[in-house]
Amino acid sequence: MIGYHKSMAVLPIKTYPDRVLKEKTAPVTEFDSDLKNLIDNMIETMYAAPGVGLAANQVGISKQLVVIDASARDEDGSLIVLINPVILCSEGTEDSEEGCLSLPEYTTVIKRALKVKVEGLDRDGGPVVIESDGFLAKVLQHEIDHLNGMLLIDRIGRIKREFFNKRYAREHAAGNK
Ligand code: NI
Repeated sequence: MIGYHKSMAVLPIKTYPDRVLKEKTAPVTEFDSDLKNLIDNMIETMYAAPGVGLAANQVGISKQLVVIDASARDEDGSLIVLINPVILCSEGTEDSEEGCLSLPEYTTVIKRALKVKVEGLDRDGGPVVIESDGFLAKVLQHEIDHLNGMLLIDRIGRIKREFFNKRYAREHAAGNK
């Protein structure tokens, strides 16, 4: 490391039912040092959790920015910074078990596209295209859902949702705003 290094920080993660998680995020327009600090802190926070992905609204910043590292479960995985992402196309469906740092101790099986192609920008504003039919595809869809104000529980069926509302939501009501 040469020169000035601003130390990174682990940020507090917002959990259900925090309202910021329900809001649609705004596109990033400024690729300045504040954005770079936020990205570095989000990476630190994701690894510390530990998690495979983190969206900016999960740390209370309502912007279209995610960090992902699916390498533990996907041989094509590596650290990805993705800004203003858009799913260009998707193919197939697959059920898999997912959890979320904003829903501690909750996991559920949900249906996602098997394969996606996503376009976005990197930390410097350069274009990025990512294609995956592995675990990374699921993480990309999960994180992009976050940016649209959606959680796992917005994709489960009615019966599962009723169970969630009865059990999980009640147990976590202390965090209600
Ligand atoms: Ni999540």
